[in-house]
Amino acid sequence: MTLNTVSGKVAIVTGGGSGIGLAFVRLLQSRNCNVVIGDLCLIEESKVLVEESAVRSVAKVLFKETDVSDWKQLGELFSFTESHLGVPDIVCPGAGVFEPKWSNFWEDSETDSYKTIAINCEHPVKATRLAIRAFLKADKPGVIVHISSTGAQVAALNIPIYCSSKAFISHFVRTLASLQAENIKVVAVAPGAVNTPLWSKWDNEGSERGKSDRSAWASPAEIAKVMLALCEDSQYQGGTVLEAYGGGRIRRVEMLNDPGPSGADIGVDGRPKGLSRDDLNIMQEEIQEHLARERGNA
Ligand SMILES: NC(=O)c1ccc[n+]([C@@H]2O[C@H](COP(=O)([O-])OP(=O)(O)OC[C@H]3O[C@@H](n4cnc5c(N)ncnc54)[C@H](O)[C@@H]3O)[C@@H](O)[C@H]2O)c1
Repeated sequence: MTLNTVSGKVAIVTGGGSGIGLAFVRLLQSRNCNVVIGDLCLIEESKVLVEESAVRSVAKVLFKETDVSDWKQLGELFSFTESHLGVPDIVCPGAGVFEPKWSNFWEDSETDSYKTIAINCEHPVKATRLAIRAFLKADKPGVIVHISSTGAQVAALNIPIYCSSKAFISHFVRTLASLQAENIKVVAVAPGAVNTPLWSKWDNEGSERGKSDRSAWASPAEIAKVMLALCEDSQYQGGTVLEAYGGGRIRRVEMLNDPGPSGADIGVDGRPKGLSRDDLNIMQEEIQEHLARERGNA
């Protein structure tokens, strides 16, 4: 028996302080699911959500400050959840970064390891391990819903670690498909472009970026709905990777012979249509600048 409703259950959502994670937290709470957000910090909207939940007798939303790249803190997020709300039934390791300047293939400024890989790959793996152990110990069904991306199937030279990290997530989820037999469902949503602070943070790193009209992109709430369906709907078995755009448009991403992102938002070159030609040129110019500098002729 896999989980078929989130009502009355307990969830952990990393990255739940903002964007898609926050929308998922809201939706879970509205379905009577208690949630712990594990994030570095809260933005104004999530702060209000946590504060309001403390005074209202609806499902709880708690915040545990967590750097998911620190496994000790990740472990503490699980023990905090168990002691305040109970063993989790749903775990969403949604925290992610879009290859920021401080952990970027082209900048290459780190000396020991790539934080982007620690956040986007290692944390979802470790959270999955912790979740499996928690579900088994409590002898109850559980769902782990990851956040991949259409970027998993798009080869973008300016964000090679990001795209590869999402391909890692999609395939990681598939390797765990047969855990469904143990009542543990591991699935992923693979959103197209979603209008979240991830993009504004990226804009702020480059003075010329941010020229695309993002108003037509999917909203975080639309992606959250797909994540809820992945948790509750038995048509989505373990190992499912579900591409999601706005307006309820979804597509199953197959492991073999998959045709690639097919949403109306994707252009013939495989890039989100919403990303303007200006932004694409800026990305290209930024890489050319790196190459020229390293050749010594910038
Ligand atoms: N926005 C998009 O277009 C899009 C598309 C596909 C997939 N995604 C994925 O969706 C997920 C959520 O992204 P979003 O768009 O909502 O962005 P967002 O920036 O709004 O949310 C990401 C959250 O992760 C948190 N986070 C980052 N590093 C952390 C760390 N070390 N420890 C704890 N928390 C940390 C941030 O504080 C933030 O709250 C990411 O995995 C992202 O890759 C986003």
